[in-house]
Amino acid sequence: MLKITYFGHSCFLIEGNQGKVIIDPFLSGNPHVKVKPEEIVVDAILVSHGHQDHLGDAIEISKKNKAPIIGIFELVRYCEKNGATLTKEMNIGGSANYNFGEVTLIPALHSSSAPDGTYTGSPCGFIIQMERKNFYFAGDTGLSMEMKLTGELYNIDVAFLPIGGHYTMGPADAATAVEFLKPKLAIPMHYNTFPEIKQDPADFEDKVGDLAKVKVMAFGETFEL
Ligand code: NI
Ligand code: MN
Repeated sequence: MLKITYFGHSCFLIEGNQGKVIIDPFLSGNPHVKVKPEEIVVDAILVSHGHQDHLGDAIEISKKNKAPIIGIFELVRYCEKNGATLTKEMNIGGSANYNFGEVTLIPALHSSSAPDGTYTGSPCGFIIQMERKNFYFAGDTGLSMEMKLTGELYNIDVAFLPIGGHYTMGPADAATAVEFLKPKLAIPMHYNTFPEIKQDPADFEDKVGDLAKVKVMAFGETFEL
């Protein structure tokens, strides 16, 4: 059994039989989120890059759950310096097994620094394998040719893709990303949190057409895969 919950922006909770993982837990300060960081129960926290709308409450959730923050080397070091006691550093192209499943770091075309300006390594995305399903989490990224390779290497079941524009790809480029990645299901993210990233997800759905199924998730919605 796999369950996916959307907490808005780029924050998802994936629950499997072997464990639960939260990705980019931007909860405090997100106007659409009702859940409080202290209510989150997880086995690991994945963080794609250092920007506040992704790092979010990662350190607090990690401490409360005694769960590791998983991410790129420099970002994880920043988390340690700021109070995280459990971390798992990785780097792009590498994979590691955890109780909940396997994580591979993949490139993202973006920038990355912590809220205080500290350099936090390259931004990244994730391939998460749980119960023989492959999740592709793009992080913040523009459209890139790397996605074509990722689509060839992995049989992607679910792709989480930013569609907000301004800071990441918008609906048209995200639809091209679907063409490159060939997922069975695409879930849009990183839109409608701030005025700069206002988008109609139906526009993305139209542009994807028959390339994949699209699921537009409401804030707080959960579904079983
Ligand atoms: Ni960002
Ligand atoms: Mn962002």
